[in-house]
Amino acid sequence: MRIAVFASGTGSNFQAIVDAVEAGKLKVSIELLVCDKPQAAVVDKARLAGIPVYTFRPRDYDSREAYERDILNELRAKHIDLIVLAGYMRLITSVLVDPYAGKMINVHPSLLPSFPGIKAIEQAWTAGVKVTGVTVHYVDGGMDTGPIIAQQAIAIEASDTIDSLTMRVHKEEHQLLPQVIGMIAAGKVALEDNRAVIHHD
Ligand code: GRF
Repeated sequence: MRIAVFASGTGSNFQAIVDAVEAGKLKVSIELLVCDKPQAAVVDKARLAGIPVYTFRPRDYDSREAYERDILNELRAKHIDLIVLAGYMRLITSVLVDPYAGKMINVHPSLLPSFPGIKAIEQAWTAGVKVTGVTVHYVDGGMDTGPIIAQQAIAIEASDTIDSLTMRVHKEEHQLLPQVIGMIAAGKVALEDNRAVIHHD
């Protein structure tokens, strides 16, 4: 399976995918990093790993659709089977959602549908919930909506701080995202009536 990862910032999730592939735990080929911030740290991580990078500046375009058309050309040229949004901080339009329906996933640092959008860990912390977590879901054009594939719950303890919680959430993301990519690559995830179903052996 040929994947493209989209990211906007640090790229710790991107790195977790790279590490899983390099360790032989994840049998996919990372063909491309797509990044909307040419200076982002994730770009350096990709270069170090020898992965091709496509960067663009949204402000150079008239619309979201316009830059997504350019991205789509890149994806088609590389025969990408699966798009992984890993900290890509932009909404996706039908230019990409339609051709990649059921072939685009996102990781989000909360138990969706609670706390969509930015600063999800902070939102959960401020709300005082006792359980939060991580979600990997298919992308449907809404903000952090789309059929949920997998979730990992995390208990918030009395001794936690926002920093300790943030660390635990990221650690779980780094486990769950490569795991879900592996399940998709192995053909174990199906979309049935707009629900993601995992077929275990
Ligand atoms: C992650 O928490 C991701 O779920 C969220 O943004 C963060 C990106 O972190 N949407 P990184 O760039 O992967 O380190």
